[in-house]
Amino acid sequence: MNEKYPFELEKLPYGYDALEPVIDKQTMEIHHDKHHQAYVDNLNKLLADKPEMQGQTLEELMKSEVQAIKNNAGGVWNHNFYWQEMIKPDNGHITDLLLTKLEKNFESVDKFMEQFEKQALGRFGSGWAWLVEKGDGSLEIMSTANQDNPLDLGLIPLLGIDVWEHAYYLKYQNRRGEYVKAWWQVVNWDFVEKGLK
Ligand SMILES: [Fe+2]
Repeated sequence: MNEKYPFELEKLPYGYDALEPVIDKQTMEIHHDKHHQAYVDNLNKLLADKPEMQGQTLEELMKSEVQAIKNNAGGVWNHNFYWQEMIKPDNGHITDLLLTKLEKNFESVDKFMEQFEKQALGRFGSGWAWLVEKGDGSLEIMSTANQDNPLDLGLIPLLGIDVWEHAYYLKYQNRRGEYVKAWWQVVNWDFVEKGLK
């Protein structure tokens, strides 16, 4: 994820239909090939005449004061993360270390999921809901607008759900809640645990 200009679209780690029926093939094709590609292309265009910024990593560019650069760098990073944190339905299990952490911070997995869903549904307009790790090792749930990222606040993203309409509209239309509830089936919990410090 820390490559530099010119950026390239990362390949999906599975086929377009791998997350069916939770996320349909057409949504994946458009989401990856059109939306994610557009963030990559826009970012490269924005940097084309800024040689002084071309040596910066994606994570550095996400902190840019130029809003368009920040937005598009965030769009590239967030989608790289989103593809990786998903897996074929019902192939993920919450691992022991993560389970202990979730119970310690949220009482139970059910309560964690409830709070996460609340943030995902409460995000007005476009954005993301996140499970993050703070500097002291505690976990927190939050949401960000647009393509902002918890890294902006010094927090480590462990899990993030894209709640832009482009992530779910073809299959779920306006029913964001259904998408969010179904999405648990495709979470790659091993990936989440690997993000812990
Ligand atoms: Fe997206």
